[in-house]
Amino acid sequence: MSVNLHAVGHRWPGGTELFRGVDWAFEDGSVTALVGPSGSGKSTLLAVLARMLVPTAGAVELPTGAEVLWVFQNPHGVARRSALDHVSLPLLARGLTRRAADDRAMEILERFGLARRASARFRELSGGEAQRLMLARGVASAPTLMLVDEPTAQLDRATAAEVNDAIGELGATGTTVVVATHDDATRDACGDVLDLGRFR
Ligand SMILES: Nc1ncnc2c1ncn2[C@@H]1O[C@H](COP(=O)(O)OP(=O)(O)O)[C@@H](O)[C@H]1O
Ligand SMILES: [Mg+2]
Repeated sequence: MSVNLHAVGHRWPGGTELFRGVDWAFEDGSVTALVGPSGSGKSTLLAVLARMLVPTAGAVELPTGAEVLWVFQNPHGVARRSALDHVSLPLLARGLTRRAADDRAMEILERFGLARRASARFRELSGGEAQRLMLARGVASAPTLMLVDEPTAQLDRATAAEVNDAIGELGATGTTVVVATHDDATRDACGDVLDLGRFR
């Protein structure tokens, strides 16, 4: 079941209208770049999708029982836990056996180029590895919708390229993802583009 926006618009109190009439269907398994200049309302629209914010116009339609998961810019993990643990934990929480969870977690780590780092502790990971691990953990959590806000904004070019490669891998995972970005390489790593600049 897709996640839908119906004629969504928003205006913060005392501010001007950021966007209006946004009609969009985020299809299952799609990876969508949410683009637009700084201040165009990308983070605001993510908050609407997360149902943290009721838009001043229109509505967001999520399937019943939908779970929305944010992947934060600053990777937060458990310093002493292994990379593998970070990915198998949500799978265990979903009821998989330890063996099945670890097998599936290894597949996911492999997809994000982290298989060799499976037993490394979180604190031993590089910035790019930690960021990729957060995406891997998000996929393992199997949310209805995964939201990522400016994943490369604070990264050097090499680390950003690593993260953009990982974003390119998201499309094969079946996870529905929205990535707010003003990085052209991040946009190009996504399958669809929602340009907020078209809804002013
Ligand atoms: N909680 C808020 N209250 C009032 N204004 C806000 C709030 N959050 C963002 N804004 C304003 O909304 C505009 C769009 O912000 P934002 O959604 O963060 O844009 P983007 O993520 O595209 O850079 C900005 O002018 C910002 O100052
Ligand atoms: Mg923003």
